[in-house]
Amino acid sequence: MQLEDIESKRVLIRFDYNVPMKNGTIVNDFRIRQTYGTIKTLLRNKNKLLITSHFGRPIEGKYDESLSLRPICDYLSDKLEMKIEFIKDIHENINFIDYDIAMLENARFNIGEKKCDSNLSQSLASLADIFVFDAFGVSHRKECTTVGVADYLDTVAGNNIKHEINNVNKLIGSKSRPMTIIISGAKVSTKIILIKKLLDKCDNMILGGGILNTFLKAKGYASVLPCIVVVPLTLYSIPAEDGPIWRVLVAPPLCNIKLPDTVSNDPSKVKFDSPFKLTPLPPVITLLSALFAMVTWVGIVVQETALPEPPLVNTW
Ligand code: 3PG
Repeated sequence: MQLEDIESKRVLIRFDYNVPMKNGTIVNDFRIRQTYGTIKTLLRNKNKLLITSHFGRPIEGKYDESLSLRPICDYLSDKLEMKIEFIKDIHENINFIDYDIAMLENARFNIGEKKCDSNLSQSLASLADIFVFDAFGVSHRKECTTVGVADYLDTVAGNNIKHEINNVNKLIGSKSRPMTIIISGAKVSTKIILIKKLLDKCDNMILGGGILNTFLKAKGYASVLPCIVVVPLTLYSIPAEDGPIWRVLVAPPLCNIKLPDTVSNDPSKVKFDSPFKLTPLPPVITLLSALFAMVTWVGIVVQETALPEPPLVNTW
C-alpha cells in the first residue's frame, strides 16, 4: 500500500520534529516543512491524522515543559492554517469531531518509549487504523513510535522516507565520477558508521556543521575554526542548523580537498537534501567575507605550521 491509497482512516504518523529551538522559538523549521507533503496527501483523502514525535531526550515519566511539543503544534497549526488538537496524554479522548489533525505530546515522556515496550506500543496502535512512518532522522532508533507500533498496525512509508531512500540509493549506485559527498549535522556518533560506509563510495567527502568539530578536534585543532566556505572566485554561505552564523564547510588550504567544478562554478548543479545549503552571498557580505576569509586563512596557515600535517578528510 502507498500513502496515496490511504483513505478515510485514522492515521498515526511518526515525524521527526526534533528541531532546534531557543527559548521556545523554533530556530530552524526544515524538518517541519518537510512533513507538509505527507500531511497534505493524507488530508486530501479524508483521513484523520494523529501526529507523534519525540523532542529532545527527556526523562521518561517526567513532564518537562521545555521539551513539550506544544510550540511545534502551534507552529504547524499556524503554517497549515488548521486547528490541531494537542493531546497531552495518550489516554485522552481523541474524537476528531472539530479537527482533522491531532498531535500527541512528546513521545519520550511516555514510560517505555525508549525500550520499545510492547504494552505502550499496543496502546499507541489502538489510537489509529494505520501507521505512517516518516521520521528519517530517527529511523535508526528502536522505540515504540518508530518500530513498536508497526507490530500492531499496517505500516506505510511517508514521502520523506521514500525521498531519502531513493536519494541514498541513487547516490550509492551512481557511476558518475568524481563523486563528492557532503555530510553535516550535529551528532557524529550516529553518523560515523554511515561516513565509514560512504567513504568507499566517493572520491571526496566534505564534512560540515557540528560533526566537523569532532574531526577537527581529533586532528589536534583546539576549537572550531571560523565559518566561511572558500571556493575559487566565489564565496558561498552555509547556514548553520542552529542560528544565523556561518560555519566552515571546507577551507581548501585546511582540508586538502579539491572541490569539484560543480561546487565551485554552479551551485544550481549541486543537489542538496538537507538544511545544509549552498547559497551565493549578497555582494556586500561577499566583500566582508573575503576580508574575513583572508584573516581566517592566515589563522589557518599559522595553525597548520604548528601541526605535523593538515587533516585529510577523505582518509578518516
Ligand atoms: C536527531 O535529531 O538526530 C533525531 O531526532 C534523533 O534524536 P535522538 O538522537 O535523540 O534519538
